[in-house]
Amino acid sequence: MDTINVQNLTKIYRSHVRQEGLKNSIRSLFHREYKEYIAVNNVSFSIAEGELVGMLGANGAGKTTILKMLSGLLTPTSGTATVMNYIPWQRKNDFRKNFLIVMGQRNQLWWDLPAADSFLLNKEIYGIPQDMFLKRRDMLAERLDVADKLHVQVRRLSLGERMKCELIAALLHSPKVIFLDEPTIGLDVVAQHALREFIADFNKESATTIILTSHYMDDIERLCKRVMIIDNGKLMFDGALSSLVEQFAAEKMLTIKFTEKVERHELEAMGIITDYAAEQASLRIPRAKIAAVAGECLGRFQVADITIEEVPIEDIIRQIFSRE
Ligand SMILES: Nc1ncnc2c1ncn2[C@@H]1O[C@H](COP(=O)(O)OP(=O)(O)OP(=O)(O)O)[C@@H](O)[C@H]1O
Ligand SMILES: [Mg+2]
Repeated sequence: MDTINVQNLTKIYRSHVRQEGLKNSIRSLFHREYKEYIAVNNVSFSIAEGELVGMLGANGAGKTTILKMLSGLLTPTSGTATVMNYIPWQRKNDFRKNFLIVMGQRNQLWWDLPAADSFLLNKEIYGIPQDMFLKRRDMLAERLDVADKLHVQVRRLSLGERMKCELIAALLHSPKVIFLDEPTIGLDVVAQHALREFIADFNKESATTIILTSHYMDDIERLCKRVMIIDNGKLMFDGALSSLVEQFAAEKMLTIKFTEKVERHELEAMGIITDYAAEQASLRIPRAKIAAVAGECLGRFQVADITIEEVPIEDIIRQIFSRE
């Protein structure tokens, strides 16, 4: 049974067009003009229990809109979705106890209170028994290394500390499904790393189903075996991160170290030279030709070392997004 099932989900935003100028403002009181924007376009997918899926897409692609529908904050224009057999936008109380959404740019903690007080509020809202509450709070605070920050006013915390407390607040009630919308946005590399490792462990230990969006490829590569790519509201890829590379990277990188100087022009026919120094060169070579080219190099030149690598995922993603 899939934990999340999405069929033909579509969201069209309808917004009121405002004309400039007083005359137009008055006129628009009587003749409202609307503009429609298809933010999510006929998206279907399903996610099994315990999966951690990454969602990638350029700014404005529709990622947050999808997560908002799956968490019941928005009603779709058409299509259906179930999350643990609930229809999210019907907003049944039981559903709220089972999922949560954390958005990197928005916060649920009370700004003027210490995080510990916000946690207490969540304890009441979700009806978490006292002993379980304390156990989980302390375990999470220790794992995220913020045990000494829980009694500091949230507005005085650093961005990273605040994000960690947001996560704790969200995880106190042991949700079974989690949507993380750019949880590492704006954090320094150390905090990003800490959060990333925490999410990986958490997913493994608790079999929680997670959808994560991020603009940082490090997050995606570390955490997600499966990725979805959203482009202009459409789901344009859904599959293993590794098959994304196979499908979209038409080339591989060949790097050769020579024991003697090799002229640039001697390499030019073999592929696209991306880096050249007298005794070392990197080339992009079509997948199908890589073995032949490597063999040719070994035969023709004095080779000290040879490596064949995939094109970096970041390059592939950039290539996909800039195609249109
Ligand atoms: N309330 C709204 N009314 C009208 N248009 C909206 C509304 N909310 C979002 N949009 C538009 O819908 C599109 C998708 O927005 P969404 O926030 O889902 O993108 P995203 O993939 O999360 O982008 P980002 O990576 O920047 O967070 C954008 O073009 C956005 O401007
Ligand atoms: Mg977003």
